[in-house]
Amino acid sequence: MFSSLIQKRRSIRKFQKKPVESKKIEILIEAALRSPSSRGHNPWEFIVVTEPDLLEKLSRAKTHGSEFLKNAPLGIVVCADEDKCDVWVEDCSIASTFIFLASESLGLGSCWIQIRERMHSETLTSEAYVSEVLNIPPKLKVESMIAVGYPAETKPPHKKEELQYEKMFLNQYGKLYTSLP
Ligand SMILES: Cc1cc2nc3c(=O)[nH]c(=O)nc-3n(C[C@H](O)[C@H](O)[C@H](O)COP(=O)(O)O)c2cc1C
Repeated sequence: MFSSLIQKRRSIRKFQKKPVESKKIEILIEAALRSPSSRGHNPWEFIVVTEPDLLEKLSRAKTHGSEFLKNAPLGIVVCADEDKCDVWVEDCSIASTFIFLASESLGLGSCWIQIRERMHSETLTSEAYVSEVLNIPPKLKVESMIAVGYPAETKPPHKKEELQYEKMFLNQYGKLYTSLP
């Protein structure tokens, strides 16, 4: 089941108007909270956004690559307290991945929107903009936003023959992994 899930998964940026049922949102929340973190410090915190006005404001977090959030019924903003863990970026990335794989398993589409290290305008970071919109305290860093909803687009899976097997080595770098004898 897991292999068919990852084979099908694509980033979805077009969504049906249909809201995501609260039962499904609860499964996504549980997936995020079950994600592993370094030393189990769980530095992440999440903001589940369903209000269209807020989703529209968040869709302006970047000049490119966030606009589709305004047409999504759900966004999950992933933040972390950097004082709780030096590798909070990794922890947040894993939580974000759990959210989008759980979405796929529920028949929902999703797409990661990068916020950390991105700019809203020449002078304002995307992180500062999102923090202002959602009242996020300054001690929290904002890593990403995950747009989620019922897909209104279909994309073919990545073809197996196009996967970059040339980047996969066995026992030492440079020795291509073909298969074990
Ligand atoms: C760390 C990370 C940041 C990303 N940031 C954005 C983003 O800001 N906006 C966007 O539209 N897609 C974003 N994506 C989605 C990628 O563009 C997408 O995963 C990639 O093009 C491969 O397509 P696929 O997910 O359909 O396989 C991001 C993905 C990752 C893993």
